Amino acid sequence: MVTHKNGTPPIQPNGIYARIVGWGMAVPDYVMTNDEMSAIVETTDAWIQERTGIKERRIASDKESSATLGYRAARRALDVANILPIDLDLIIVATSTPEHIFPATASLIQDWLGASRAGGFDLSAACSGFVYALDMAAQSIRSGSIRTALVIGSETMSRVLDWTDRSTCILFGDGAGAVVIQASDQPGGVLSSVLRSDGAGCDLLAIPTENARENGEHKVNRMYMAGSEVFKFATRVVDESLRQTTEKAGISIEDLKLIVPHQANQRILATVAKKLRLDMDRFMSNMDRYGNTSAASIPIALCEAIEQNKIQQNDYIALVGFGGGLSWAAMVIQWGVPQRDEQRSRLNEQRRKAFYWFVWWRRRVLRWQRSVNNFTKRFRPKQ
Ligand code: ACO
Repeated sequence: MVTHKNGTPPIQPNGIYARIVGWGMAVPDYVMTNDEMSAIVETTDAWIQERTGIKERRIASDKESSATLGYRAARRALDVANILPIDLDLIIVATSTPEHIFPATASLIQDWLGASRAGGFDLSAACSGFVYALDMAAQSIRSGSIRTALVIGSETMSRVLDWTDRSTCILFGDGAGAVVIQASDQPGGVLSSVLRSDGAGCDLLAIPTENARENGEHKVNRMYMAGSEVFKFATRVVDESLRQTTEKAGISIEDLKLIVPHQANQRILATVAKKLRLDMDRFMSNMDRYGNTSAASIPIALCEAIEQNKIQQNDYIALVGFGGGLSWAAMVIQWGVPQRDEQRSRLNEQRRKAFYWFVWWRRRVLRWQRSVNNFTKRFRPKQ
């Protein structure tokens, strides 16, 4: 992409731009308040609110997972985009809490959606994952190799928390957000991004698995974090990466209508706002209601910003994520959504309903066929 430093957005030499055309979110129904948290670990509502800005978070039920929440968010994003899942070329799920090491959460969602022409994979970059994933999708679109992608950030952090550690379990929540991103000949959409990591900080924030080199210091499949170190890292890289990505996009920080940051701690946002000399109302914040939902926090905040009319056509917005790795990522988007043709939307809604009904039955029939085959195999004569 060519960068113009005179305030003009970058021009794509091949004339293909990557624009967000759909968005959706899904959170569990169960709300856990700070008071409920204080019955689990030694803490208070006042401490949590004052030190983090969090009032409550959503916690997944036994029937919910990163895959089911991601699927619900994806369905909504596809409805807004007014497209069928068969139009998807690629599905990327940013998550640190997949149901399996493999198959990818993206594969489960691909099957449930009936997105039979799409490739899919999971991306692990902790709380920066959604911005990384969106950049991967945007690059594939702008290169001309694909046309439409679904990018999901989905987490069930409650399953990997150490519920005896008050310095971490109070911070996190569960949820998912998704966007549909599509090729367009209209300049705008994803303009620039900066993706970075610093593995020297890999032991500041982690979830060790059974495969980790054992030193007995940390619990397997439970998150641990050196909070104040991560806090210092976050305040440094958010400010730095926002400056870098706006410069790449040929705009200034002041041109940003809204910054949609990873929702980790209200005090991190206040520190960054001060460093950048911006009012706090330029930062989207909803962590008071959802806590830190890791890779899901940016798409959830983006959805709520759109619903609250905080973003208008042609506005410049920035996304910025930071977390485990250590990793961080920032992106500038020039917002612009195609006008909806209401008649076509209604027709497509009927087609989508019929499509999802067909997909549901097809999945059941295929699984039933497989069970019948396995059963009858026992009675077939051996060759
Ligand atoms: N309730 C009451 N007291 C507490 C609690 C609690 N829930 N948690 C810690 N404390 C106590 C500590 O024990 C400590 O007590 P002490 O002084 O007697 O030892 C005191 O509060 C201060 O502890 P700190 O850790 O210094 O508290 P701090 O103000 O730094 O806040 C926090 C901790 C909220 C974790 C903060 O450091 C933070 O938000 N860090 C950044 C987290 C982040 O950005 N994560 C993003 C990435 S997440 C990802 O990638 C998955």
